[in-house]
Amino acid sequence: MATNRTFTMIKPDAVKNGHIGAILAQINEAGFRIVAMKYTWLSAEKAGEFYAVHKGRPFYDELVTFMSSGPIVAAILEKENAVADFRTLIGATNPDEAAEGTIRAKYATSIGENAVHGSDSDENAAIEGSFHFAGTEIFS
Ligand code: TYD
Repeated sequence: MATNRTFTMIKPDAVKNGHIGAILAQINEAGFRIVAMKYTWLSAEKAGEFYAVHKGRPFYDELVTFMSSGPIVAAILEKENAVADFRTLIGATNPDEAAEGTIRAKYATSIGENAVHGSDSDENAAIEGSFHFAGTEIFS
């Protein structure tokens, strides 16, 4: 399988609860290389833009408020089969349904405040990566 990329965010709940280090360690131990990373704080406007695909859904306003409620860590990760393997590593959207040992099972507090984001396709990984990083900020 070709080496490719995915995009992740450690969300405000996990940052607030002190889980940045543990989550990054689990990501590294699973074989992902960090090729871009920043500690940042999304405005409500930027969070709304990032999740525009969910506009109109009942959880959208809450999601935007939550994602702009505190700092996040944004990163681009590289690995063979990165998108699918990262979705497996983080577990289901709802932590009650996330497999044991996954990042969401360990660190998420609810379906809305679920600790991490992971891109759901190669196409979205590229779009989301360039939403947060310029080409000159990515070091492969
Ligand atoms: P989604 O893209 O469906 O999930 P994932 O992050 O696993 O790809 O949804 C984006 C985020 O929206 C999700 O991480 C948390 C929030 N969300 C809710 O708050 N309630 C919901 O019912 C759903 C489906 C998502």
